[in-house]
Amino acid sequence: MSAPMRIALPKGRMMEQALELWERIGSGIATEHSNSRRLILPSRDGRFEFLPVKPSDVPTYVEAGVADAGVVGLDVLLERQADVLQPLDLGFACCRMAVATPEGQPYPELPGAVTPRVATKYVAAARRFFAERGIQVEIIRISGSVELAPLLGLSHWIVDLVETGRTLKENGLVVVDTVFASSARLILNRARHKLRLEDHQRLLADLEGALAHTPAARDS
Ligand code: PRP
Repeated sequence: MSAPMRIALPKGRMMEQALELWERIGSGIATEHSNSRRLILPSRDGRFEFLPVKPSDVPTYVEAGVADAGVVGLDVLLERQADVLQPLDLGFACCRMAVATPEGQPYPELPGAVTPRVATKYVAAARRFFAERGIQVEIIRISGSVELAPLLGLSHWIVDLVETGRTLKENGLVVVDTVFASSARLILNRARHKLRLEDHQRLLADLEGALAHTPAARDS
């Protein structure tokens, strides 16, 4: 048998959902590894090795070719602008990147031609979005709890991920624009895709088959 394909997975809920998908194609991880702290987790059938990494590091491992493939949110992928193949929308971890403001805050302009300050973790996506619309803004980079910024007057607006909408609602913020819809994507290293074409194609076909046969799972 050929060497296992290495798959970089983003630690957290998305990794659990990815492993459920690999379970459905008969290549889940062995039970003894499910709570393991090992950093290379073999699949039960020996076909894959899973690498649990920070979500933002998934494109780095795949782009460098130390992993054949990875699972990553479109939000992270667009922010990183990694040079990887992106053949498949895995249909889970669905959310949207949105512009939100405190209720009643004007958008897309502020009175008195004030330049809006926008707090976000997603600096590249926010810059692109406002530049494409010809809206001049000042971007403020924040690493987490972005919703706090407009509450304290650090920013006028935010660009952030919205999943259930609960964080916004509980902090008196409302969505005023959508930047893009995000979900988990399969990414592949370009060179390794050529080198291991057959293995990559088989993985794609298996995953596509699993997604097609369990439509409910696509909405989870
Ligand atoms: C994400 C996102 C929002 C929240 C949205 O934050 O940045 O804050 O989830 O989810 P909701 O619409 O279901 O409320 P995360 O939990 O990753 O924490 P962070 O803000 O500290 O990065």
